[in-house]
Amino acid sequence: MTTDEGVASFSPDQLRAMRDEFQRFLLEYQFGLREVETKLGILRDEFLQMHDYNPIEHVSSRVKTADSLVEKVIRKGVEPSFDAIRAAITDIAGIRVTTSFTKDAYRLFDLLTAQDDITIRAVKDYIAEPKDNGYKSLHVIVEVPVFLSTGRVAVAVEVQFRTIAMDFWASLEHKIYYKYAGVVPDGLLTELKDAADSAALLDARMERLHGQLHGPGAGPIRAV
Ligand code: GTP
Ligand code: MG
Repeated sequence: MTTDEGVASFSPDQLRAMRDEFQRFLLEYQFGLREVETKLGILRDEFLQMHDYNPIEHVSSRVKTADSLVEKVIRKGVEPSFDAIRAAITDIAGIRVTTSFTKDAYRLFDLLTAQDDITIRAVKDYIAEPKDNGYKSLHVIVEVPVFLSTGRVAVAVEVQFRTIAMDFWASLEHKIYYKYAGVVPDGLLTELKDAADSAALLDARMERLHGQLHGPGAGPIRAV
């Protein structure tokens, strides 16, 4: 790098090397996602085969865009090095698992996190303790090993487990939050909280009905 009156300038080769390094950094997260998606797919297929029951309604995943990552690095005041970003930003790779029932969300969490190549970095149980706005979901940051030509790296992946009702609520709340740029009118906040309570009641009711269908004590996922 050469500087001319405080302005950084790079040669084309230096720029290309920086781009390649950044792409490789993000690629590791893509691989981490793939590993966790495979694990979830195996659990789903095994349950379908053994119990004729699919505990997963939907799985979606994404790697943060470069723009969104840079914005978060600046917002959180993280030192702009790959090691510092790796340590501080744990949602570069994210997976959302939507289930029919709350019990399935916990069960999948247990089955995934019990695997011996998975390390739990942090858990936030917003189902047991919903946020003040009514948000519910079970969050976990896991580390999964990825084997590259250069060796093994541990990749952090954020996994969110939630029911269809919780997901419905969260996506609407997200849209409203962005529409009002974070300053949501009080009346709307109250209505959103009320809607979260209705969603929770619906979840409880559906789970009860499902339990009746499968006999007393039967969870949505029966013991393996
Ligand atoms: P971030 O820095 O934004 O990732 O938050 P955090 O580090 O405090 O983590 P947290 O586990 O609270 O939230 C992580 C993710 O959960 C967010 O990026 C959202 O996808 C989701 N989330 C958390 N709170 C809310 C909420 O109130 N509403 C909605 N719609 N989503 C939420
Ligand atoms: Mg996040």
